[in-house]
Amino acid sequence: MTKPTKRKIRIAAVALVLLAIATGFTAWYKIRRDVAQPQWITSDARNDYLYGSVGAESTAGIPYWIWLALPRLFPDNLHYPGGYVALGLSWEESREMPVGFSKKTVGYVRVAGNCALCHARSYRTGPDETSAVVDAVRGRATDIKPLLLFFHQCAADPRFNAGELLSEIGMATGLSFLDQSIYRFALIPRTRQAMLNQESVIVDPDLQYHSRNPYAPFSSPRMKALEVRIRDAQAPVYPLPVNPALVAAGKPLFAQHCGSCHALDGQSKVIPIGEIGTDREHLENWTQAAHADGASDRLGSERIEMVKNSGYLAGPLNGIWLRGPYLHNGSVPTVRALLQPQAQRPRTFYRGNDLIDATGVGFLSTEAEERGRRQFVFFDASQRGNGNAGHLYGIGLSSSEKDALLEYLKTL
Ligand code: HEC
Ligand code: HEC
Repeated sequence: MTKPTKRKIRIAAVALVLLAIATGFTAWYKIRRDVAQPQWITSDARNDYLYGSVGAESTAGIPYWIWLALPRLFPDNLHYPGGYVALGLSWEESREMPVGFSKKTVGYVRVAGNCALCHARSYRTGPDETSAVVDAVRGRATDIKPLLLFFHQCAADPRFNAGELLSEIGMATGLSFLDQSIYRFALIPRTRQAMLNQESVIVDPDLQYHSRNPYAPFSSPRMKALEVRIRDAQAPVYPLPVNPALVAAGKPLFAQHCGSCHALDGQSKVIPIGEIGTDREHLENWTQAAHADGASDRLGSERIEMVKNSGYLAGPLNGIWLRGPYLHNGSVPTVRALLQPQAQRPRTFYRGNDLIDATGVGFLSTEAEERGRRQFVFFDASQRGNGNAGHLYGIGLSSSEKDALLEYLKTL
């Protein structure tokens, strides 16, 4: 072999190595590079809860520009204009993202769900007021079915392709040629698959498991800390005026008829299913699941008792005005309805409205939509697992006694 040929081979080898390093670096930079979220999120507990990442980006998450383009490209899959709000999500004024969505760069900018996607509440004191968002609240989780359905409908649509999406994205930003290629050949097809596969697109496997099996403990320290935050959350003071005379009259009624189970000292107790008489489905699923995966060994004492005694937990009613619809399956829209026999509780209603129902205590549940802005989720108590029977306490009170008791409950 002549010298120049040897040299050429060596140069080629070095070039190849350099190319490999450059490609590797670019791939890492564009796919895996982890960038911390901005300070206004990470240094503030409330913002961190509402917009902070819980680490779902490594296994889930939608590329930001696709997320942004979807409502613009598929307005026909939303019943109203206004983007993601039309799906019942809360949005604080002046924020870029809806509540429950974190925006974080892991290689590319990604959008993923956090605890607040299901565990935040908003309320309005009047139809024309803006919604106030309460970060962590105990009680029923938000129904994200409309969001998942939207993703599914978009992904199933033939317009969900690189050409259409990139031209929509091009109206919002100028992506480099390399970024466009990454979107075209990797992110768009992959996101489409994930969206067809429903929830894995927005929450990671840990959270998917949790939403099916909510009482199994979390493993990551970050999620454990957030769990404590939700359990210990204090509700804000009732935002509408209350009638002090009625509150005073309601207090002893509460002590007499409700206090034995709903003590305000923070202790919960289990009431056996035969006595409480509410829908059994959840209890049966939970008992089986807990025994099957050994979760009962790892749970807090409250949950173990729930399994042992086969009943539902009666807890403190603090902030009950913010927790509707009521009972473990959200089958009773207002506390007033809960104070009536089953035959008089609404069989169907709508969930997801955040307009306070001051008369019923809970949220307005009779409207299918909010004046051209968003749709609510239809609930049918005759469906399996949705039963609204049981919990027949206080149904014999007179109507003025009920008014007083309800007024008192607003102040808890
Ligand atoms: C996809 C929706 C979803 C997400 C996201 C989610 N949860 Fe839940 N969570 C549920 C459901 C469903 C329940 C069952 C409660 C219910 O609906 O009544 C629940 C119940 C809980 C409860 C028990 C509530 C109580 O009042 O005792 C805690 C605590 C909890 N989740 C913590 C978390 C934490 C911490 C995160 C984030 C790391 C999280 N959840 C994210 C759906 C979700
Ligand atoms: C014998 C015990 C007992 C008594 C007395 C009792 N409750 Fe309950 N309460 C429960 C249990 C258990 C649950 C949970 C049932 C379920 O989710 O299926 C519950 C749930 C509730 C809820 C729904 C909580 C939520 O977060 O959805 C409200 C509201 C409520 N009770 C109000 C009252 C009022 C008002 C009274 C008095 C008139 C009362 N309860 C009397 C045991 C009791």
